[in-house]
Amino acid sequence: MSINTQLDRETIIVIDFGSQYSRLIARRVRELNVYCEIVSHDVTWESLSHLNPRGIILSGGPASVYEADAPMAPNWVFEKDLPILGICYGMQLMVHQLGGRVSPSVKKEYGHSVLIQNGQSEDLFTNIPDSIPVWMSHGDRIETCPPGFETLAFTENSPIAALGNNKGMIGIQFHPEVAHTPNGKLILDNFVHKICNCGSLWTPVNFISESVSKIKETVGDGKVICALSGGVDSVVAASLVHKAIGNQLTCIFVNNGLMRREEPERVVNTFKKYLDLNLIHVDATDRFLYALKGVTDPEQKRKNIGEVFINVFDEESSKLGKVDFLTQGTLYPDVIESKTDDSKVSAKIKTHHNVGGLPKNMRLKLIEPLRYLFKDEVREVGLELGLSEEMVYRQPFPGPGLAIRILGEVTAEKLELLRSADWVVMDEVKASNLYRTLWQSFAVLTNTYSVGVTGDHRTYGNVVAVRAVTSDEAMTADWSRLPYDVLSRISSRISNEVPGVNRVVYDITSKPPGTIEWE
Ligand code: XMP
Repeated sequence: MSINTQLDRETIIVIDFGSQYSRLIARRVRELNVYCEIVSHDVTWESLSHLNPRGIILSGGPASVYEADAPMAPNWVFEKDLPILGICYGMQLMVHQLGGRVSPSVKKEYGHSVLIQNGQSEDLFTNIPDSIPVWMSHGDRIETCPPGFETLAFTENSPIAALGNNKGMIGIQFHPEVAHTPNGKLILDNFVHKICNCGSLWTPVNFISESVSKIKETVGDGKVICALSGGVDSVVAASLVHKAIGNQLTCIFVNNGLMRREEPERVVNTFKKYLDLNLIHVDATDRFLYALKGVTDPEQKRKNIGEVFINVFDEESSKLGKVDFLTQGTLYPDVIESKTDDSKVSAKIKTHHNVGGLPKNMRLKLIEPLRYLFKDEVREVGLELGLSEEMVYRQPFPGPGLAIRILGEVTAEKLELLRSADWVVMDEVKASNLYRTLWQSFAVLTNTYSVGVTGDHRTYGNVVAVRAVTSDEAMTADWSRLPYDVLSRISSRISNEVPGVNRVVYDITSKPPGTIEWE
């Protein structure tokens, strides 16, 4: 059974037709302090009405409305008297379903374009100049408006690039959610605040106070446990639950011996000293290393680590007597991924992330207080809860830890070596003020040896690879163009300070085709 801490509020619903930008729309709306959820195009009104929808956004998508199997909007969308904003495919769909005409454009329109207003929609275009740069990405165009609609704007290749009626139904051919449409945020702001009349209720303070009362109500006098990894999500989830129910929460931190230098100490310090949480700290390093003996296959490493983790967690939690709930730091992107069409790939990526997965026979009810938050919102909530910036802006770290950054067998010696190299990378990245701009930065022990020379001696030593990437929630990533002087310091410090390493290389692979981790 899963109890989520869904809160009562005003919601803008994004109906997803498969656009790469759907998430971005939701994030932009939330940045305007209005709660927003993404749902699939076959969603029923009954499953949404509790969210108190105040407006609907129909997303873009790769299909053409006149194709036989093109996804359509459910009928209720046009029957609820709610304002609608159709974006790109969403606009074409609205036109098609309400009796207008869409057809393939002779000239497709991708990239920058100029939108010129030629109609009356003060609300959507309040404070927007008559002519603005916009970002387009479409092959179809509107030929005729549906009955009751009129043209609001055009571009060179789209005679009807925006249209609307007097019921608050609006279609725009361009993408307001992307940075390439500089006035896009204001257009969305006008839609949610002026047309949908939403307040600005979605703030970290409101989220915290509503979540706290919801968690209190759900848990009653029950007992809750939480597996802490030291990462932002579990820390924020635990802090929120702790704020709600105090000592009814016990956190279990399993030190798997695969963490970075000084990390286990940091986790224990933060939780015990600063947050004053009930914390059980188990050092299970030996058990994990034993389970990794002789293992070289990356997936097998993950599996073995996962199994030991589950056993240790199970042993510790059973010492606590009856426990009713388990809290987890699941985030909204995980929820969307498991719901949307492309979830097959995402699901596969996720299974190997679920190293912290917990015993199925524990029969605990789940509390996932961050289930509807994006990562940047989790960070804001963390700050509002009083967590330090250092804690809140930590780069993500994988559950199997350094084990998947040591190619080949994992041993205590190699772990120590990698920790030293990784320490240098962190140190230099932080000293150059680059830590927060990078999604992740770390060292990898490549299990490759090369010839070198130190003083007058020939050496045969380890090759360490340095990886630093920028990313939007890890689905794709680009290798970071770290300044040469930073790379140079990292290289000379690693080869001087880490015994056994005589060569440092920089990984210039993006994702795809590479992954962020090497294993
Ligand atoms: P990849 O390497 O697939 O990583 O591009 C994407 C993101 O996921 C993290 N990662 C993991 N996290 N268990 C985790 O908890 C794992 O097995 C795992 N593998 C990769 C990785 O650090 C990056 O943030």
